[in-house]
Amino acid sequence: MTQVHVSSHPLVKHKLAVLRDVNTDFRAFRELMKELALLLCYEATQDLALSPATVRTPMGDATCAKAVETIGVVPVLRAGLGMVDGVLELLPNVQVWHIGLYRNEETLQPVLYYNRLPQATSVSLCLILDPMLATGGSAVAAIEMLKQSGVQRIKYVGLIAAPEGVERLSHAHPDVPIHLAAIDDHLNEIGYIVPGLGDAGDRQFGT
Ligand code: PRP
Ligand code: URA
Repeated sequence: MTQVHVSSHPLVKHKLAVLRDVNTDFRAFRELMKELALLLCYEATQDLALSPATVRTPMGDATCAKAVETIGVVPVLRAGLGMVDGVLELLPNVQVWHIGLYRNEETLQPVLYYNRLPQATSVSLCLILDPMLATGGSAVAAIEMLKQSGVQRIKYVGLIAAPEGVERLSHAHPDVPIHLAAIDDHLNEIGYIVPGLGDAGDRQFGT
């Protein structure tokens, strides 16, 4: 059974409202994508494994815990690129791998044009970054590729989903938790999320 987490954090709700706004220019859009990615990544990593550690402070020894997992983040080009910097602020030591997928405008099927996943990997967790989960085709394809690369534990971190995309992704990969800022109303006849925010790639890159 897939876990679907929709953030209830007030800052996520506020920033998402500004991100959606048709009057938000692409400079502000990029900044908001980064901030939202950081906040959602914070929520998505709440079960990271810890190892006990003793740390010497100026006043004595403190019993602490340190994160021990090796993590990979995988932005799905193009739109997922805007989420990377926010995640790197939180997790500076992660590996970043890239997958390039675009949707065929007529069939809505994902088309792979770039794959820089490693042949073999030792990471214990991979976070897929893509702001929009529409039909779910791109997310399902990206996760299949990661699994073929040997990644055992994957989480999907997105911003806005259509119910159709959540359904398809959870059916195809029930082991992959989904972290989102919002689930919207529906997909329109050309595969866009309504109300959504329009085209996430175009809005952040000004195309
Ligand atoms: C967007 C988005 C996802 C995909 C979601 O990318 O970033 O990758 O659409 O749609 P789906 O769930 O129906 O597959 P797009 O194809 O617009 O490419 P871009 O990021 O290069 O603009
Ligand atoms: N991709 C986007 O960028 N926006 C949508 O609404 C759907 C797919």
